[in-house]
Amino acid sequence: MPGAQPLIGVFDSGVGGLTVVAALRRRLPGASILYLGDTARLPYGTKSRRTVLRYSQANVDFLERRRVDALVVACNTASAMALDDLVVRAPHWGVLEPGASAAVASARRHVGVIATESTVRSGAYEEAIRRLDPRLRVSQQACPLLVPLVEEGWEEDEITGRIVARYLEPLLAEGIDTLLLGCTHYPMLRGVLERVCGPEVTLVDSAESTGALVEQALRGRGWTDGAGPESASVRLFATDAGPRFARLAERILGEPATLEWIDVDESGTGGTLRIGEEVGTS
Ligand code: DGL
Repeated sequence: MPGAQPLIGVFDSGVGGLTVVAALRRRLPGASILYLGDTARLPYGTKSRRTVLRYSQANVDFLERRRVDALVVACNTASAMALDDLVVRAPHWGVLEPGASAAVASARRHVGVIATESTVRSGAYEEAIRRLDPRLRVSQQACPLLVPLVEEGWEEDEITGRIVARYLEPLLAEGIDTLLLGCTHYPMLRGVLERVCGPEVTLVDSAESTGALVEQALRGRGWTDGAGPESASVRLFATDAGPRFARLAERILGEPATLEWIDVDESGTGGTLRIGEEVGTS
């Protein structure tokens, strides 16, 4: 009900979408969040549109059964391949349009987009940017190794710097002035991306622009921070829970994280995982 604190449902293929949750928490500290990471079926970034749509719809249905007031598709791949065909009752947003708008606002002539293979193949970012400003040049680069490097916790490792430099080489050689981070995990690599790109290239983070758009939309609908941050909660569900997911969740959120292990189809709770524990049920 507008006027009260909203309950926002957010889903991603894994825990990388918590970069969007972190942005929402900064902007809407009074909002409660239900997050679903489809860790059992990760990655989406190499899969077909049909499969990504089927998985995404199951995630939406899971969150809507929990009566969310608004829904955010935090996964860039799902936003690029499935958003338009999802059946969603609640007001909802993906990360693609906000990312594209922010890139257009920053770019002078040439935007580089880095994303998963499926997102790049869909051409959705390029289309969205060109729709907003047909004069802009857009170059895309799939960076399949970056998600595993973040999940390994190697954001600052020297090998990550070399891989990032290799991926960005063609984009930098073409003279991009803006780099759009079109994948949930890439905000975690901001430091190395900035070092490789240098001061001439502006980085645009689709997680941050999505947080801004959702805040504006919810406040526009009359939602407030209600009783304030003390009464806001964040509940994290995952379809598979292992210590690596819980550790990554903590790194992204910057606060202790507990993943509740569920099955999206049966909506049963499979167990709870705290860092360093093994899940007790199978
Ligand atoms: N969440 C995906 C994205 O933003 C990255 C991980 C995956 O491939 O599932 O595109």
